[in-house]
Amino acid sequence: MAQVLAINGSPRRNGNTAHMLNTVLAVCRQAGLSAELYQAGGREVRGCLACGSCYQKPGRCAQDDWVNEVYAKMKEAAVMLLGSPTYFADLTPELKAIIDRCGYVSRGDGKAFSRKIGAAVCAVRRAGSLHVLDSIQHFFLINDMIVPGSSYWNMSLARDIGDYGKDAEGAATMARLGENIVWLAQKLK
Ligand SMILES: Cc1cc2nc3c(=O)[nH]c(=O)nc-3n(C[C@H](O)[C@H](O)[C@H](O)COP(=O)(O)O)c2cc1C
Repeated sequence: MAQVLAINGSPRRNGNTAHMLNTVLAVCRQAGLSAELYQAGGREVRGCLACGSCYQKPGRCAQDDWVNEVYAKMKEAAVMLLGSPTYFADLTPELKAIIDRCGYVSRGDGKAFSRKIGAAVCAVRRAGSLHVLDSIQHFFLINDMIVPGSSYWNMSLARDIGDYGKDAEGAATMARLGENIVWLAQKLK
């Protein structure tokens, strides 16, 4: 299991969000942290059923699918990096399913995410990324997590696959986010 877990919520497994996350992960790896990119794209999306089973049987969602695998990785990691493209000014259903289901499981599992580091990143063609970042950060902040910043909000302008590389400021924001994650992780050790 990796110290830094990045989750790409885009259905495009190797699109702009994946490349943004990889920039951050490269900085973390360079500093000696182990890092993994988990791709949610291509997997069946099922949201929380509100069945409450995770409070009866802590640590697992009653829907026995890939989200339980993600939860185990999240619980083990010290840093959670969640990425989504902007879809109608919001995050994707893939990432929302992870947030709702793993968030609820963690709360029934002794608040397992407490004091982990959490950061959000977002690819956007033009507008709506701040709402995506806010939504993801709400998840971190209700779960007792610690959120580092960067030199700008953690977004990059990009539409087609490969566009991310054309936005120099977006790439610099990702690199600085990686540096701040490493700095914070070292302080919290
Ligand atoms: C269903 C859908 C909705 C989108 N909505 C928005 C939007 O509200 N604002 C925007 O700027 N871009 C929007 N986009 C563009 C994507 O955010 C953009 O192409 C992004 O780079 C995709 O990231 P990815 O390559 O990681 O999938 C939308 C794309 C799709 C497919």
